[in-house]
Amino acid sequence: MRKPIIAGNWKMYKTIGPAIELANGLKREFYKIEPADIDIVLCPVYTCLSEVAEVIANSNIALGAQDVYWQDEGAFTGEVSAPMLKDAGCTYVIIGHSERRQFFAETNDTVNKKIKAALKHGLLPIVCVGESLAEREANKTFDVLTGHVQNGLVGLTAEEVARIVIAYEPVWAIGTGKTATSAQAQEAHKYIRDLLVKFYNKELAAGVRIQYGGSVKPENIEEIMAQPDVDGALVGGASLKIESFSEIIKRGLKVKVKK
Ligand code: PGA
Repeated sequence: MRKPIIAGNWKMYKTIGPAIELANGLKREFYKIEPADIDIVLCPVYTCLSEVAEVIANSNIALGAQDVYWQDEGAFTGEVSAPMLKDAGCTYVIIGHSERRQFFAETNDTVNKKIKAALKHGLLPIVCVGESLAEREANKTFDVLTGHVQNGLVGLTAEEVARIVIAYEPVWAIGTGKTATSAQAQEAHKYIRDLLVKFYNKELAAGVRIQYGGSVKPENIEEIMAQPDVDGALVGGASLKIESFSEIIKRGLKVKVKK
């Protein structure tokens, strides 16, 4: 049984005050949720990490960053390292988000270095993969996914890959209001899991959690989470409000944790 994981990617939104308010509100909403049932992660901007960490300390919510640099320290102006993120209270880190690939020249090679750095320092990477609209229309979805998974994870042992969460995020569904159909999501998730069987082994592939991301909202979370290979969600816009994010968690939980 894979434990569901739902993460909120706050992107470049919220200054410290509103970030604390949102984290506090979510903590109040989730206090009854069993930590054994689901992993809930908040990924604020760097400047809010410590404050949000303080709010969610001793709760069932974990902290994640939105990016990481692969060196531990040095003359790399503007970058933040894995030990620094650990120090700020992070457990997770998003790596290779399509916005980073698109606007900040992130490649499978930099993604690979970042994953290795995160794992080395005990951070759990949420590795984003997914095709653009042009790639989907050119029937290149599976080639892109193969490239992202194969090259992004190159050189990692099975034990290391077991600690990774993969987020399938079709770029055309991010922030656009367009969601992949649950069948499209399941098809891509199954394909990714089969790649893990091919590159590693069946047992490992069966244990790796694969989240769906792209315009996830309370109205569509149940259908998406009901797919057998969908283990959670990476939520952007709808994670910025207490009502919508807590509704997503509650509905997602209902689908996956049938008690
Ligand atoms: P969205 O973003 O939910 O606003 O589409 C998802 C993401 O980019 O992680």
